[in-house]
Amino acid sequence: MNSLALIGLQWGDEGKGKLVDWLSARFDLDIRYQGGPNAGHTVVVNGKKWVFHQMPAGILNPGINVAIAAGCILHPETLFKEWEELDADGVEYLSRTFIDPRVNIILPQHRLLDRLRDEARGKNKIGTTGRGIGPCYEDKHAYYGLRIGDLFSASLDQRLEIIVDHHNAIIEKVYGADGVEKKTVLEGLEVAAERIRPLVADVSNLAYEYIESGKKVLFEGAQGVLLDIDHGSYPFVTSSNPGAIFVPTGVGISPKLVARVLGLTKAYATRVGAGPFPTEASGELEARLQKLGQEFGAATGRRRRCGWLDLPLLRYAVRLNGVDGLAITKLDVLDSFDRLKVCTGYRQPDGTVKGEITPRDFDPGEPVYEEIEGWKKTTSEADNFEDLPSQAQDYIRWISTQVDIPVWMVSVGQDRTKTIALPDLPF
Ligand code: IMP
Repeated sequence: MNSLALIGLQWGDEGKGKLVDWLSARFDLDIRYQGGPNAGHTVVVNGKKWVFHQMPAGILNPGINVAIAAGCILHPETLFKEWEELDADGVEYLSRTFIDPRVNIILPQHRLLDRLRDEARGKNKIGTTGRGIGPCYEDKHAYYGLRIGDLFSASLDQRLEIIVDHHNAIIEKVYGADGVEKKTVLEGLEVAAERIRPLVADVSNLAYEYIESGKKVLFEGAQGVLLDIDHGSYPFVTSSNPGAIFVPTGVGISPKLVARVLGLTKAYATRVGAGPFPTEASGELEARLQKLGQEFGAATGRRRRCGWLDLPLLRYAVRLNGVDGLAITKLDVLDSFDRLKVCTGYRQPDGTVKGEITPRDFDPGEPVYEEIEGWKKTTSEADNFEDLPSQAQDYIRWISTQVDIPVWMVSVGQDRTKTIALPDLPF
């Protein structure tokens, strides 16, 4: 079978955009299945940096079609901004892009509510991206959502009135802020409707037809497994399910059609926003990782918290999602370190060590670290695994043994070309 789910195994920002772009040269359809513009999938081609928030990151490959499936949420203005950038660079996308009518729309008041609410939490704030993600998914589940298909309904005006009244009551009465004007929101939606109309397609059927006819389909995850609304570090999570276990629901296909799962982890760890991060570094070490890894959010520009790789959480993420192969990204960021640390377990009060924890364990115990000698050589010029310094090869093999699955890919730089495919990669 010819499908692959590509997912982040940490707190997001594992470099999914780059590998989606690289793999898309080998696939026929790239589908985003959850999340919205809280994602910032970065692709660097010939020195030019692209950051995709809504468009699937495979679009720069001329031979691929891309789709936004039902499990996603969409902010039309963000999508149109990405289209402008593609237009400016002469990338054709309109004939290759499909949007499911069941995708929920992020309205201006969702963004406003997201910010008002997170600010009101004061020191307990989640540190959301402020893109309206929580309020939009919340409305979807409370049956207040407006979907792409609704844009073409004769009752759009009426539906919107109910929704805006509901939102304005909260904005004005709970937060004492100014509500939105229905007329302005409606005008924005009418413009969006005209631009999106030609691209509306049943992505569930499309995915099924592609897979059944032997074409290759890539499912592009956003965020990371540890931010999963159900299985992550709740309440410090996002409002969707970023793992492979959500692909069937998000796209609308049978679980049997997700053939393989590729999980991405950085060679270390980062997290944006609040919430537990047991292997977080501090002081000079954190500043060094931030600087070398350019750890500032692609969606919001916020500083990312940095620390060491956490194998007990990685084992959990791998097991939860049936990950078949790993991609280890940003290996080059560690090139200059004399010694590296990796968390291999968590010591419990009774002295035993747990080899796997879940992100729900707010008090997982004392991290136990293994110290590893650094390679102190450049990895970014390597084209093949054998070109890597031997210590770096050992590090990769050791991680693979620790989580008990093969490594399929290694990333050693931002550019598309800085990608090493290992012989086990099935695509
Ligand atoms: P939201 O998704 O904007 O509601 O934010 C909820 C939490 O998820 C915050 O901690 C965000 O920083 C985090 N988050 C959301 N999207 C991403 C992402 O694409 N990468 C990394 N963190 C993210």
